[in-house]
Amino acid sequence: MSPIPAPPWWQRDDLCYQNGQLYFAGHEVNQLAKLHSTPTFFYNAQRLNDNIARLHTALQHAGMTGKYRVLYAMKANRYAPLLTHLKSTGLVGIDACSPNEVDHAISCGFGPDEISFTNTSLSRSDYDRLNRIEGLSMQCDSLTCIRKWGELGGGRNIGIRINPAIGLGRADNDKLQYAGADTTKFGIYREQFAEAIALAKQYDLSITKIHFHTGCGYLTPQLDHWEDIIQTCMWFVDQLADTVEVVNVGGGLGVPHTEHDMPLDLDLWAAIVARNFKDKKVIVEIEPGDYIVKDSGILLLTVNTVEWKRDKTFVGVNGGFNIALEPAVYGLPFQPVPAMIRKGEPMKVTIAGHINEALDIFSRDTILTPIEEDDVLVLINAGAYSTSMASNHCMRGEFKEFLLY
Ligand SMILES: Cc1ncc(COP(=O)(O)O)c(C=O)c1O
Repeated sequence: MSPIPAPPWWQRDDLCYQNGQLYFAGHEVNQLAKLHSTPTFFYNAQRLNDNIARLHTALQHAGMTGKYRVLYAMKANRYAPLLTHLKSTGLVGIDACSPNEVDHAISCGFGPDEISFTNTSLSRSDYDRLNRIEGLSMQCDSLTCIRKWGELGGGRNIGIRINPAIGLGRADNDKLQYAGADTTKFGIYREQFAEAIALAKQYDLSITKIHFHTGCGYLTPQLDHWEDIIQTCMWFVDQLADTVEVVNVGGGLGVPHTEHDMPLDLDLWAAIVARNFKDKKVIVEIEPGDYIVKDSGILLLTVNTVEWKRDKTFVGVNGGFNIALEPAVYGLPFQPVPAMIRKGEPMKVTIAGHINEALDIFSRDTILTPIEEDDVLVLINAGAYSTSMASNHCMRGEFKEFLLY
């Protein structure tokens, strides 16, 4: 008797095969494709709830009850029904990074006082727009920002985004690092911090928040390094011990992309937060995007071609890197999953999009059950940084989105 094959690494209750058909959020994926065509993104509202609940539970078990806030980094996915759903949970605020994002969050039900704003290189009209939104929490990422915000009015609180000159990213991926050995555009460095404090004083701005976001996609193996980063950043907090009420430790919590990744150990992560902040008189903010939405979303594509070329079988699909950019932009591969299991020998395939660019590859040399033209192929973990970064390159920017309950 042949052994029962191990379940795929990505399988979970709301994303699994039943009788050879893939189900997502209680729906048969082939039926979803028939009803709504492809390319289409589907998000599972329950998975969003579960991801948020897991964060809260871990922080509460670590003893952080009443000492933290969770903000959702809406740059990861700004689909209005998804934002409205997140608002309805009452469990997250918003991290926004442009005036349009702030307006959009407000239109989806978030109050200005639930929004933390952090951006870089703002124009005069950006400042004017933000200045009209009373209650917004403003993080200044540069001396220029402190000056220009101060010129619009003193006597208020600000946050400062700092740069500790060390960062992290999934498996040391330097495309995902926002701080490190190379000087980056983000935040105020230690050597200019005294100047930042003086400038804030000059404009009668009180610095009540220290903010840092040093990289994306970190998993358990990077947690020790993440704690080093927090401890480096405490120097900045200590300089302003009298005024700082909030420390925002950014986002960056990762989810597995391949079978070689282990899920982030949230208890270990929350223990680090507690170890460094529980006894301090500050509220900790976290602002994850990926962790909340990435694995709540899948992208359904249709197979246009299956063709052997020299040493590879290419599976060509009806969507391109321009609507799901992470492999091309950040080197983060997608896991392709057939919507139905066909019998036969597994195939080693390279999944390519329909855009006329060499980087239009979703995954390379992946072993899949047999796949044929017109089959539906699913890219899992497509809920973050796909639609929000999409372009109309080659005039192939169309996609649909649905939130499933
Ligand atoms: C300032 C800031 N906060 C939060 C995030 C969210 O990051 P992630 O989606 O990796 O959690 C980002 C993303 O780059 C960011 O720039």
